[in-house]
Amino acid sequence: MRLDKFVCKSTQLTKADAVQCIHLGEVGVNGEVITSESTQVHENNTVTLRGVKLIARDFRYILMHKPAGTICSNIDEVYPSLFNSLDVENVSELHIAGRLDVDTTGLVLITDDGRWTFDITVPSKQCAKTYRVTLSRGIAADGVDDLVSRFAAGVKLQGEQQLTLPATLQVITPTEVLLTITEGKFHQVKRMFAAVGHRVVALHRERIGDICLDVDVGQWRYLTDEEVKSVVRHG
Ligand code: URA
Repeated sequence: MRLDKFVCKSTQLTKADAVQCIHLGEVGVNGEVITSESTQVHENNTVTLRGVKLIARDFRYILMHKPAGTICSNIDEVYPSLFNSLDVENVSELHIAGRLDVDTTGLVLITDDGRWTFDITVPSKQCAKTYRVTLSRGIAADGVDDLVSRFAAGVKLQGEQQLTLPATLQVITPTEVLLTITEGKFHQVKRMFAAVGHRVVALHRERIGDICLDVDVGQWRYLTDEEVKSVVRHG
């Protein structure tokens, strides 16, 4: 991680204060004064502030049930931030591993571990996300196989050159389906259904990899170690 982030994670300093300490030559890495805040440091490096060894706090991994009408941003905009209901310290250090639209509900993972987020969000890692989708009109019984095949083969989203990666469609009722995808383009699920002539009227994420949503709307909990480790590095 960046040196300024390490200093923040191991002290009560704000980012601006941490950067100032680094510029003033008060921070050392493995015995050498480092004045660039973007220097990368690892857990096994010895980082000191005014000669005192710093120990970074453990990463945090949180599962939350996003209500409709909230945004996956650290600050309120037109809609309130999801983080308002997260009563933990240093919320500004946290980010969301795979954002949802304002009207989408369901499973959101929150962390300060950027590498873990990378493993969840980068398509090459093949981390599956499952959405429960409600459609404005039913899928005809004789059109189900065709739709399953089209999503498996990949569809062309408006404005994109490449097909979507193979996705799995499971039809529950004519208007309710489960769609599992391994990438997260902007409005991806809504655009995939638009590409095949359907409109999404409700969208709910219920699973990311092996992690399932199991708290009530607006509630959150820390992930277990097993859940954290279940996000494995594939690629
Ligand atoms: N796809 C969408 O269209 N919206 C979301 O919020 C998530 C996936």
